[in-house]
Amino acid sequence: MDRVITVDGFASSGKSTLSRLLAKKLDWSWFSTGVLYRGMAYVERERNLQKSDILKFVHSDHWKIHLGGERTQFFYQDVNVTDQLYMSSIDERASLLSAWTEFRKALIPFQRAFLPKNEEGKGLIAEGRDCGTQIFPRAPLKVFLQAGEDVRANRRSRDRARDQLEISTAFKAQRERDRRDRERNFAPTAIPQGSFVLDSGKNSPEALVERVYEEVCRIFSF
Ligand code: DC
Repeated sequence: MDRVITVDGFASSGKSTLSRLLAKKLDWSWFSTGVLYRGMAYVERERNLQKSDILKFVHSDHWKIHLGGERTQFFYQDVNVTDQLYMSSIDERASLLSAWTEFRKALIPFQRAFLPKNEEGKGLIAEGRDCGTQIFPRAPLKVFLQAGEDVRANRRSRDRARDQLEISTAFKAQRERDRRDRERNFAPTAIPQGSFVLDSGKNSPEALVERVYEEVCRIFSF
């Protein structure tokens, strides 16, 4: 059985918070796959890349991902640029890039490479918008997190305080990104079959972790 748990959901649905806490509790690795999209959007902007160059860059060795610590890290030419990826301008560019089918397909192997090779030892919590549906469809445990639009927009505005992102602006951008996520041709965001659908607006992160942990114990015989 693959030692992987997927956590999917739309923007600001609480995926990272749940994944981080769960990873700590299980002592598993946590992969926030959005950092890949964000990192590529950052490089696209820095280097003013055209589409064909973006695909070339994806297959180059000028970037890498590190799991571990408080978040997934993206390195561009050996410089850790993760702190610069969580801002409104990158939110928007990453979302636009993520609708592009060839680009999504090019990123698949880099995500699957983190699947644990054996059934002992550390497992992986893969968090994103298509981890349960497309990247790890055989994951024994899949979670889909949701929360109301207002709750999510409030969170985003709080998380982007340094950009002074107003709630109304966050709300509008969120609607557009949700639409892109839901309607893109390849691997649109959807509730994976057989997943646990949980609401992060109605439950605390700790309560969510406990609920998922019960399933982990049942499924992985912890
Ligand atoms: O989860 P996040 O906010 O860091 O994701 C950033 C962007 O990347 C978001 O616009 C959606 C996209 N994304 C995706 O399309 N598929 C994933 N598995 C992860 C992220």
